[in-house]
Amino acid sequence: MAFSFTPVSGFGLVPTAELINRAFADYVVKFQLTEPALWQAARLDSIDFNASCVVNVDGTPAGVALMARRGWTSRVAAMAVVPEFRRQRAGRALMEYVLAEAKQRGERAMVLEVLTSNTPAVRLYESLEFRRVRRLTSYAGPAPSGLLPAPGLAEADLRAVAAALIREEAINWPWQLSGETIAMLTPPHVAYELDGAWVALVNAAGPSVTIRALAVDGPGRRTERAVRLLHAVSGPPPGHRLACERHLAGGPRAVDHRRRAHARRTKPVADGRA
Ligand SMILES: CC(C)(COP(=O)(O)OP(=O)(O)OC[C@H]1O[C@@H](n2cnc3c(N)ncnc32)[C@H](O)[C@@H]1OP(=O)(O)O)[C@@H](O)C(=O)NCCC(=O)NCCS
Repeated sequence: MAFSFTPVSGFGLVPTAELINRAFADYVVKFQLTEPALWQAARLDSIDFNASCVVNVDGTPAGVALMARRGWTSRVAAMAVVPEFRRQRAGRALMEYVLAEAKQRGERAMVLEVLTSNTPAVRLYESLEFRRVRRLTSYAGPAPSGLLPAPGLAEADLRAVAAALIREEAINWPWQLSGETIAMLTPPHVAYELDGAWVALVNAAGPSVTIRALAVDGPGRRTERAVRLLHAVSGPPPGHRLACERHLAGGPRAVDHRRRAHARRTKPVADGRA
């Protein structure tokens, strides 16, 4: 059995989307990727189609790794092998290949997120020296009941939310929650500011609003600014729901509906894995 590798930029985005859809067809989270969605991910999440690659088994495309890159760090944004080629070491070969490429580019860390219940992937990553660095949790629940008066509420540029996150230098945010990603969001996503508290919302006009980012500038902490801001932006209609993707500590009514671990290969890629 011979493995070879093709950059996604040479393989083509339509065949890549099809291969990813086949490889994730039995995955717990259902989705259908398209070429426009891949371009969107390239813009928002810094996916690099030259660094992303397809693994071929005896010449047949069998799996894909979508790689994102920022500075010295790369991220495995998606990685999967089609069912008929699983357990033949294609996944391991693909990961070893992208790690070797990252090392050759001079990168120092590789990060990824994985569902803690995904035993095959967790075993694969841990065998390649990825270590758990934090647990990510999503929450969903009803919006706060009752609007509070918020005279200072103003719509803000999404980049202002990004700047508030980036000011938080002590925290190494997960990739998709980082200021760099939030800075790439554009309308119809919206942002609001209230007295040094910032929020970025997705689907703000829909029945289920996603809080994509929430930040309070340092001096304003522990003064309920975030609570006032969330009350101010949630409002009617009744039955409005707020969902928070992967980044908020939950209040008592929050419902944890998915758990993911964030893994980081802390050993610099440049040091090799031996
Ligand atoms: C995770 C996945 C990519 C592994 O691909 P694969 O080609 O089957 O993996 P390999 O044959 O290279 O196995 C590599 C290691 O993974 C682990 N592994 C793979 N399948 C496993 C399984 N069914 N149960 C337990 N461990 C498994 C083992 O540690 C294995 O090492 P070993 O062969 O020395 O025991 C594949 O199962 C897949 O595509 N799953 C669906 C998509 C997915 O979950 N992607 C990851 C999202 S973060």
